[in-house]
Amino acid sequence: MKVALGIGCDRGTPLVTLARAVDEALAVAGLQRGQVTGVGSITLKADEPALLALAAQAGWPLHFYPATQLAEVVVPHPSETVRRHTGTPSVSEAAALLAAGTTEASALWVEKHRLRGGDGRNATVSVARVMPRTAIPPCVANPDPARRFTASEREAVQSLMQVRRDMRHFSPGAQMGDDVRARLQSALLAAPSVGLMQPLRVLRITDPALRERLASTVDEERMRTAQALGPRAAEFLALKVEGLRECAELWALVLAPDDGTVFGRRNLASEMAWCSAGAAVQNLWLAARAENLGLGWVSLFEPADLHRLLALPEGAAPLGLLCIGPVDRFYEAPMLIQQQWRQARPAPAVFTENAWDPSWTTGGCATPEHLPQG
Ligand SMILES: Cc1cc2nc3c(=O)[nH]c(=O)nc-3n(C[C@H](O)[C@H](O)[C@H](O)COP(=O)(O)O)c2cc1C
Repeated sequence: MKVALGIGCDRGTPLVTLARAVDEALAVAGLQRGQVTGVGSITLKADEPALLALAAQAGWPLHFYPATQLAEVVVPHPSETVRRHTGTPSVSEAAALLAAGTTEASALWVEKHRLRGGDGRNATVSVARVMPRTAIPPCVANPDPARRFTASEREAVQSLMQVRRDMRHFSPGAQMGDDVRARLQSALLAAPSVGLMQPLRVLRITDPALRERLASTVDEERMRTAQALGPRAAEFLALKVEGLRECAELWALVLAPDDGTVFGRRNLASEMAWCSAGAAVQNLWLAARAENLGLGWVSLFEPADLHRLLALPEGAAPLGLLCIGPVDRFYEAPMLIQQQWRQARPAPAVFTENAWDPSWTTGGCATPEHLPQG
């Protein structure tokens, strides 16, 4: 994990204070100096001796941003006092984000670490994750917003939804092209979300060691799930419930820390964020199937494990591990039906008019999962 620092300090802050503030901020996040790719600050500080000395000592490139540019970045802790003195409500947080190549506040790992030195001068350090640069171009599609769909296109969309499957068997060693990835990303970005908050974040896992650690976490949770299923434990263990080690691409889904969107979520705030994330994944699922790729949503993991392994910030919630990639063949029906784990609900068990159907409460339509089917 690479990070960028944002630094603000009083004029004449000694090097020792600045260096201590930086080391403390890195320690808070469990980071080393070697993980820092650069330092950002305000142009006012372009001649600040301690800042220049620290960057030179550590070999960190320095980036200075004008107050107007820093002021445009939305940060968690804007300050009126800082604005009065510098012309921007944030120096360290905004500069850390810009130096990390993002304006996404959720990239802040350490929001604001303050240190008052022995001589009374203050230094503030923020730490932001460096977002991986993607070479993927935006989606080429430039759809006509007024277009009408033909009967055969409708049929294609219906058939896409019917043959979409949750896949857990992938063709080992297969790859996925950048262009395909771009179309999948574009499908995800086109999804509806409450108040347009777009709460879902995707971490593409390219580090094989990290993939293996995630797969082990899933293995552990699979055993705990089997235990929780009691009489059906052996039957559950016979199912294939993930394809983390074989799939071409592994994407970790994370719900971003709440951005405070009120529109559409004054009530049920967290539920609406979660639903929005689900809607985005469904777009992706359908887009993957249209590319003739399999996608499997894996939710068998202990959230705290993923939080730690993915170094997520406070307030972020892991939602799933998506296995995506070419498959040798698609299942003809949901695998849980094929393997007689559970039956699907028929339409009357889902649709009714005006009022709740009392038969739904008695559970007459589907056998509970923990009981043997039949
Ligand atoms: C939120 C969510 C989490 C899921 N987690 C898992 C999982 O951990 N392992 C698994 O085998 N399937 C998982 N599934 C897949 C479902 O079991 C599957 O969608 C369902 O059985 C219907 O099959 P189909 O998607 O092929 O129609 C998940 C699906 C969703 C929507």
